[in-house]
Amino acid sequence: MADIPIVKAGPKKLKKKPDPGAQLGFGKIFTDYLFLMEYKKGEGWKNPRIEPYKPFALDPAALVLHYGQEIFEGLKAYRWANGDIYLFRPRMNYERMNRSAKRLCLPEMDVDLAIEATRQLVRLEKDWVPAAPGASLYIRPNMIATEPALGVQVAKEVLFYIMVGPVGAYYPQGFNPVDIYLEEKYIRAARGGLGEAKTSANYAASLLAQEEAHEKGFTQVLWLDAIERKYLEEVGTSNIFLYIGDEVVTPPLGGTILPGITRNSVLHICRNWEMKVSERMIGLDEVISGLESGRVKEIFAAGTAAVISPVGKVAYKGKSYVINQGKVGSLAQKLYDTIMGIQYGKIKDPYGWMMKVT
Ligand SMILES: Cc1ncc(COP(=O)(O)O)c(C=O)c1O
Repeated sequence: MADIPIVKAGPKKLKKKPDPGAQLGFGKIFTDYLFLMEYKKGEGWKNPRIEPYKPFALDPAALVLHYGQEIFEGLKAYRWANGDIYLFRPRMNYERMNRSAKRLCLPEMDVDLAIEATRQLVRLEKDWVPAAPGASLYIRPNMIATEPALGVQVAKEVLFYIMVGPVGAYYPQGFNPVDIYLEEKYIRAARGGLGEAKTSANYAASLLAQEEAHEKGFTQVLWLDAIERKYLEEVGTSNIFLYIGDEVVTPPLGGTILPGITRNSVLHICRNWEMKVSERMIGLDEVISGLESGRVKEIFAAGTAAVISPVGKVAYKGKSYVINQGKVGSLAQKLYDTIMGIQYGKIKDPYGWMMKVT
């Protein structure tokens, strides 16, 4: 694919990069450049380019600011020990973004162009990709309705952009099992709603429950289905897995949860290991009785940010259930080591998941 035009910033405009040993945290540092392109109904996508990072001029009437017509993605670029930089399954992110676009009446994009834009932006910003263990360059593609108009309507003008920034290891001190709160009062998404789209409304809807769970001392909310409040859905910004007896179980993609790329990868790997794997509804009665009897051996969350996040404790109706004595389970550990190993080029990638940037 042709090179994307780059508007270069003067050397004095470039930001100071963080020190190699600095604590990067998440989502606080952004690099020098953005990829951008605009869409206009009747004309399609136009003017793909890379430009210096700067604030947007957005009309106060821009539809996104009033009616929330927005979608986004999240993926990472990883620096290998030999200095090469790779993306993990980027096609899945942009295919998911196009499905989100459809649901939010936003225009779909050419997936190959979006991948190439990502590669060229990361290539330009390669010196920002951290080398510290577990650190990476986080990539945030975003699409917003920019047309200035009031009244609920589908925007005829849209902006797509990609921003990137270095992020630190999720577990700088090693794995730390999280305590989660089974949420009964609030719901995240109902069938027929927006749950399977990566759109800001879902995250806005989750904030209050998350705040209340934090106040009670929990790290994450485990969502239940919106109708019966009886079946597990997902946890925070990741998908949920249970290891029950000899079966690895995760809720099915029924339209209310995000089809996670890590979820898909965990399923692939466990099937490849010839484990018994099911995508099925997981009822609370099964979870609680399994926690009491010890049949539930492990619970862990799976998502891009942490890869695998073991759950040490679950709270439900005022009672706390400790899983695997609050320790990291062997399956969670093995999956974490395998996926991280593939992402950082430490172990062979038998699935063809890694895509080279430079
Ligand atoms: C609500 C929600 N569920 C699940 C996930 C996990 O998806 P992925 O593995 O693609 O990061 C995310 C993160 O993107 C999320 O925001």
